[in-house]
Amino acid sequence: GGKIEDRFKVLYKRYEEEKHTKTEQEVWENAQTSRSKYNYGNKEVKFQQNYDLLLDNQIDYIKTQLIEGNFEEDERFERFSKADRLQDERCELPVFKQRDKLLTAIRDHKILIVEGETGSGKTTQIPQYLHEVGYTKYGKIACTQPRRVAAMSVAARVAQEMRVKLGHEIGYSIRFEDCTSETTVIKYMTDGMLLREFMMDPELSSYSVVMIDEAHERTLHTDILFGLIKDLARARNNLKVIISSATMDAEKFARYFDNAPIFGIPGRRFPVDVFYTKSPEADYIEAAVITVLQIHVTQPAGDILVFLTGQEEIESTHDILLSRTRGLGTKIPELIILPIYSNLPSEMQAKIFEPTPEGARKVVLATNIAETSVTIDGIIYVIDCGLCKETCYNPRTGMESLVIVPISKASARQRAGRAGRVAPGKCFRIYTLWSYDNELEENPVPEIQRCNLGNVVLILKSLGIEDLVHFDFLDPPASETLIRALEELYALGALNDEGQLTKLGRRMAEFPVDPKLSKCIMYSEKYSCTNEVATIAAMLSVGNSVFFRPKDKIMHADNARMSFSCRDGDHLTLFNVYSQWEEANFSSIWCRDHFIQYRSMNKARDIKEQLVDLCERVEIIVNKEPCKDIKMVIKSFCSGYFFNCARLHKSGIYKTVKNAHTVFIHPSSVMFKEMPKWVMYHELVLTSKEFMRHASIMSSQWLTELAPHYFSSQDLDDDSIKKMPKPIKLNP
Ligand code: CDP
Ligand code: MG
Repeated sequence: GGKIEDRFKVLYKRYEEEKHTKTEQEVWENAQTSRSKYNYGNKEVKFQQNYDLLLDNQIDYIKTQLIEGNFEEDERFERFSKADRLQDERCELPVFKQRDKLLTAIRDHKILIVEGETGSGKTTQIPQYLHEVGYTKYGKIACTQPRRVAAMSVAARVAQEMRVKLGHEIGYSIRFEDCTSETTVIKYMTDGMLLREFMMDPELSSYSVVMIDEAHERTLHTDILFGLIKDLARARNNLKVIISSATMDAEKFARYFDNAPIFGIPGRRFPVDVFYTKSPEADYIEAAVITVLQIHVTQPAGDILVFLTGQEEIESTHDILLSRTRGLGTKIPELIILPIYSNLPSEMQAKIFEPTPEGARKVVLATNIAETSVTIDGIIYVIDCGLCKETCYNPRTGMESLVIVPISKASARQRAGRAGRVAPGKCFRIYTLWSYDNELEENPVPEIQRCNLGNVVLILKSLGIEDLVHFDFLDPPASETLIRALEELYALGALNDEGQLTKLGRRMAEFPVDPKLSKCIMYSEKYSCTNEVATIAAMLSVGNSVFFRPKDKIMHADNARMSFSCRDGDHLTLFNVYSQWEEANFSSIWCRDHFIQYRSMNKARDIKEQLVDLCERVEIIVNKEPCKDIKMVIKSFCSGYFFNCARLHKSGIYKTVKNAHTVFIHPSSVMFKEMPKWVMYHELVLTSKEFMRHASIMSSQWLTELAPHYFSSQDLDDDSIKKMPKPIKLNP
């Protein structure tokens, strides 16, 4: 929807611009000629009279026309005028001056490390250069991004620059969304997707170049790719490998890749003044808000970038800023507040790249996504709260949680650097100099050392890599974490007691989801409830963004939500939502009426379709008829999530079955008041306490049936269970 309206905005803007420079007659003529370019079908649209009127009255009609594909010409018209400007911009990027030298270095070396300031043009330009000089004649160019948002937005940008339609020559591929075609030559993708491609074709034979971009982010998948690519580069003579990163870690990468040369792109960087708070701030959000307002009223023009930790925090900061500035009315210049985080819908993301209007100031509230992967022009001021959200995994308990931790010095420098891209800037750190010096680590901890490795181990095993302990990691994971992953996969039945992949494990590996979830899908076949399980799995992956709770209609929203409640728990409640929506023909109006987020539902629908496709690939029959015994749906979930079971103790407190860890039912759960004796939950979220999110009633009997090796009789303290756990012989 948004895109179409944007196209109109372009038209409208052009009209506005021309209105001042041209006579009425010229504008009229221009509109005539424009009109002759468009094909509206056989209906005539009178838009020469007044563009305003057109926007108001005829937009719906034209929208239909656009959807029916009768508006092709307009698209080309918009793209061309924009692309001309983009070509000029391309030549101004720092990497452009190095174009020839860079291409020579790539020609002469198998692996090249490219290091350059963020925003110097590595991601958008290097693949284009390689395409321009013909590398794509021999195969596609892959460019990996740690973040989905970056993959999509960069691909869109490059498509614009090359004047092609996104998904044709330039495409992107992220989990559950493939926007590429036969004609695609440059493919931006998440690092996880390239890992998947390794599974389908370990030689990556359709590629001539692989660029592992944003290498400094050191995501789990990027780290694994390093090992695989290093090996592949030795085996394939016709493959070029580029490892590109911001100005961090380049020497380390070079050493790891057999002393590959480093190609530096000299940046244009202006000095940034750094300010600290005199004493620690108790409330960094409040401090950030005040700093924004102070900058806004006292400092010269220039946009502000605020680093916060997550979506909720960004939303509440947004609200606070809105209410404070509203109070000031027209006394201050306009402050445009824009959020950016990974889950933000793409139309909204695009907004942060729009130029700030004259006289106004933009303030972007961002997670660490804006640290390196997204560059916003015009930022002069940076406010850094000094924290970020990170996954943290405890191999002893097997629990993964998102926690807020101090950033590293390297990140702090990177954040500050964002203020100096276009002019000298200022960075306000909401922490003390003392804490910078004494409390921040030098570098961030790579993800591989702080997350669950289940999925990755499954992928590596299915790539035939048996010996994980001796895998060539840039930084190896803790052996405890590796062993824990092997144990988990063993408990799920994906590995046998020799540590080899089982038939089940091989099928599970096909699914780009947590092994726990793929196990559920496999198991559901037994009870012919794969359709239900896949639906719920899809709903769970859009997670907590299904229900919509506007502040002024909380009561209505909560009532609507109640109407979906299922006594068996949140899993089947989610299923209710989906199936009622399906019955309503996937209608957006239905969603609005029921306080359900249409966008999330669409995403769930997409994911479900893909899961069903994948089921077909591994020859699982997806039931067409509704499942007869709905309890079996939960049992199927239990086949993967038996790790996540808790029991209500006499004290009125839930403890996990395995480690007797205290946990609580999330207030949003339909089980919140119910308090059944046994619950299975989808995940734990840590806020004020450890909450079980998406919980359902389960039967303790299932545990002995589904995970005989995992639970000891003590765990279940039920007299009927006397079986001893089978000894585990693992060969990591
Ligand atoms: O990869 P690197 O950080 O070196 O730079 P890049 O992502 O290739 O960005 C080069 C330029 O393209 C930046 O100045 C951005 O302003 C612009 N760009 C954009 O406008 N929209 C995007 N989605 C990505 C980049
Ligand atoms: Mg980049």
